[in-house]
Amino acid sequence: MHTAERLTKLPPYLFMTLRNKINDARARGVDVVSLAIGDPVEPTPDPVIEALYTAAKDPANHRYPTDEEWGMLAFRQAVARWYARRYDVELDPKKEIVALIGSKEGCHHFALGVVNPGDTVLVTDPGYPGYKPSIWFAGGEPVPVPMLAENGFLPVFADIPTDVAQKACAFYLNYPNNPTGAVANRVFLAELVEFAKYYDIAVCYDNPYSEMVFGTERLSFLNTPGAKEVGVEFNSLSKPFNMTGWRIGMACGNPDIVKAIATVKANTDSGVFNAVQYAGIEALDNGDACTARMLEIYGGRREKVLACLRDLGWNYDAPKGTFYLWVPVPKGFTSASFCDHVFESCAVVLTPGAAYGANGEGFVRFSLTVEDDRLDEAIRRMREKLGTLQFD
Ligand SMILES: Cc1ncc(COP(=O)(O)O)c(C=O)c1O
Repeated sequence: MHTAERLTKLPPYLFMTLRNKINDARARGVDVVSLAIGDPVEPTPDPVIEALYTAAKDPANHRYPTDEEWGMLAFRQAVARWYARRYDVELDPKKEIVALIGSKEGCHHFALGVVNPGDTVLVTDPGYPGYKPSIWFAGGEPVPVPMLAENGFLPVFADIPTDVAQKACAFYLNYPNNPTGAVANRVFLAELVEFAKYYDIAVCYDNPYSEMVFGTERLSFLNTPGAKEVGVEFNSLSKPFNMTGWRIGMACGNPDIVKAIATVKANTDSGVFNAVQYAGIEALDNGDACTARMLEIYGGRREKVLACLRDLGWNYDAPKGTFYLWVPVPKGFTSASFCDHVFESCAVVLTPGAAYGANGEGFVRFSLTVEDDRLDEAIRRMREKLGTLQFD
C-alpha cells in the first residue's frame, strides 16, 4: 500500500521510540525508571471523576457533542471564569474560546486554520516536537528560531533576520517551556505582541504549563495589551488537574483564529464528549487545590533531583517553570550518548535534548512525573553509578 509522502518527512515520534526502548528493557527483566515522558502519575481529583460519572449516565450526553459547535457554552463559560480568576484575563465565551481535545490538537488545527501551502512558520529551537509535523501537514515550512541558554531560553526578536520575519505567517512559542523549563516575563510578551503586529504574524502561544511555576508569577499571553489582536493561547486541563488521558483543553483569544480552528474542527472531529466537558467544568471551577498540591509535589521532587545533580558536580540554575529539568550534559558526552550512559549504568531513562532541535544538543531533560519512590530509586542509582562527572 502506498501512503502519503508527507509522512516520510516525519522523524520517528520521540516518545514512541523511548517507550519501545523501555518496554524492550523491561521484557529483558531490567527494572527501568523512566524520567522521560511528562505525564502526571497522580490521579485526577475525585470530584472531577464523579462529575464525569454523573454526566455519563445522562443519555443526552451520549449523542454527538455538536449542538454547540465550539464546545458546550457552559464549558466555555467555565474557561472564561478560570482565566478571569487565575490570570485576570477577560474572555468572551461566545467568540474567543473553543473547546479542544487537548492543546496538542489545537496547535495542530491552528496550522490547518492559519497556514497556507508554501508559508513559512517560525518555531523555537529547541521546541515541542509536535509543532513541526503540524506545519508540514498544512503545507508550510517551519523556520527555527534559536532559543539559547545565554538569553534565558527566550528568542531574541532583534536577531530574527528581517526577510525571515517578513515572510513568516505564524510563530509557535510555549512558556513555561517544554523542554527547557524557562518562563516568559511581561516585557518579553509585550515585545512578542509588538513583533507580531509589525510583521503581521499570527501567534500560536502554547501554554499548557501556565500553572506550573516556581517562585514566579503565572502568566497568560492574553494578559499582554494587544495580544488578542495577534494570536491565540492554547491551554489544557492535562497538567494542572492530572487529566492528560481525558483529552480536554481550550484555544482562547483572537476571534478570527478561534473561528478558523472551530471551522477546521467542525470538518475534522466532532468535539469533546459532553461528559468530559462537564468534568472539565468541575476541574476549572473547583480544582485549584489539586493544582496547588501538584506544585508542592513537583517542588519537592525538583529539590531532590537538584541536590543529586549538585552532589554529582553540576553547577546548575533550576528553571522556574514546568515539571522538567533541562540539564547540560557533562564533558565528553552528546545528549544522546549521555542518555545511553545513564540508561546502561543506572537503567534510568532521560530524554536527549537533540530530539527537540539542533539547539537542544548538549542538554538532557529530566521529567518529574514519576512516583516518589521511583524517583528516589533513580537518584540512588545515579549517585552510586555515575561517579564524579566533568564539566567545563
Ligand atoms: C508544549 C506542549 N504542548 C502541548 C502538549 C500536549 O498537551 P495536551 O495534553 O493538552 O494535548 C504538551 C504535552 O506534553 C506540551 O509539552
